[in-house]
Amino acid sequence: MGLFNRGFKSNVPSNGQPSSANGDAPSEGAMPATDPATQPEPAQPEPARPEPARPEQARPEPARPEPARPEPAQPEQAKVTPALPVNPAPPDPGDEGRISAHEALGPTRAPGTSRPPGAHLGDESERRAKIISFANQKGGVAKTTTTLNLAVAFTESGHRVLAVDLDPQGNLTMSQGIDPDKVEGSMYDVLVDHIPIREVIHQREIDIAVASIDLAGAEIAMSMQIGRERSLEKALSAVVDDYDFICIDTPPSLGLLTVNALTASDKVIVPVQCEYLSMRGLVQLQNTLQMIRENLNPRVDIEGILPTMLDSRTVHAKEAVEILEENFGELVFKSRIRKAIKFAEAPVRGSSVLKYDPNGNAANYYRELAKEVLTNGTS
Ligand SMILES: Nc1ncnc2c1ncn2[C@@H]1O[C@H](COP(=O)(O)OP(=O)(O)O)[C@@H](O)[C@H]1O
Ligand SMILES: [Mg+2]
Repeated sequence: MGLFNRGFKSNVPSNGQPSSANGDAPSEGAMPATDPATQPEPAQPEPARPEPARPEQARPEPARPEPARPEPAQPEQAKVTPALPVNPAPPDPGDEGRISAHEALGPTRAPGTSRPPGAHLGDESERRAKIISFANQKGGVAKTTTTLNLAVAFTESGHRVLAVDLDPQGNLTMSQGIDPDKVEGSMYDVLVDHIPIREVIHQREIDIAVASIDLAGAEIAMSMQIGRERSLEKALSAVVDDYDFICIDTPPSLGLLTVNALTASDKVIVPVQCEYLSMRGLVQLQNTLQMIRENLNPRVDIEGILPTMLDSRTVHAKEAVEILEENFGELVFKSRIRKAIKFAEAPVRGSSVLKYDPNGNAANYYRELAKEVLTNGTS
């Protein structure tokens, strides 16, 4: 069975109507055409990364029910209650081939499990960046805000950082004061026409490889190409030794752009807006990650799940974080990103909150997160 057929399967509820887990309409670009003639060869060897597949990830138990499944695919998932995850639905024959959240989780965030940036990789002696994708197929959960502000927090602590805008909406590009409609070259040209990524990197608070609106057509254009899932990985290989971190902002879908990001990445950070917590959406992301591990990139795993836009005064937000921790344990970051108006103001000025309000709480939330990621990677 092909990668993307399986991806679609977990997207289709029992009424047969495709929908995303969070109740949003599925993105137009979500998952490329499934022409068998253009399907990737699953056994394709990984050229540059000799790390072997993790055996425990390669053996999902297909028939196990998925704990978070009973949650309805409605935006009203904000009304999720603590009882939800402990009442799994009975096994559904249609679930064959799917994996539970725990099976999909892979390694935990226990300290010392990740490689520090610039560390030796296997037998290779050269330095390379740690590549982190920021992914959640739900929009408005602070993916872009987190990509930018964590990237800038890394630079504050002396690291060399490249941010890559892989979202056709170009919000990351705009949040560094660059107009996506006016850029000469963008990630579209890198992914589709294979121009060197250096040609679309602009120097701002961090180095940023920019998006433009035509990136929306990249999934279709790339779907015709052999090796389409590895376009970004190949493009980044030219600059991977120039940075300590490469932070990739992804669109709100699990389509080919996100697949490219996950295929190129060592780690994934999953921002979750606690007001609209969607366990089912997280399990769907885990399923996609598992498929990426099996077919394209055995080394990718979750760096952490990040509670964002937290209003700690509300009981619901507290409950939502508790549910996250009950289900995902160590994977949930200790850092919390609380609600602050500065997060909406800073991008309008073309800057991160760390530059816009360097001494404010908002900036410190992301400095704390940077410290947690760096500690996790180096202890
Ligand atoms: N901690 C926060 N507090 C308040 N507003 C926030 C916070 N984080 C993000 N926002 C705002 O929420 C909106 C969605 O954030 P964004 O990063 O664009 O999400 P995504 O990339 O997941 O779609 C933006 O207007 C952003 O400024
Ligand atoms: Mg975004």
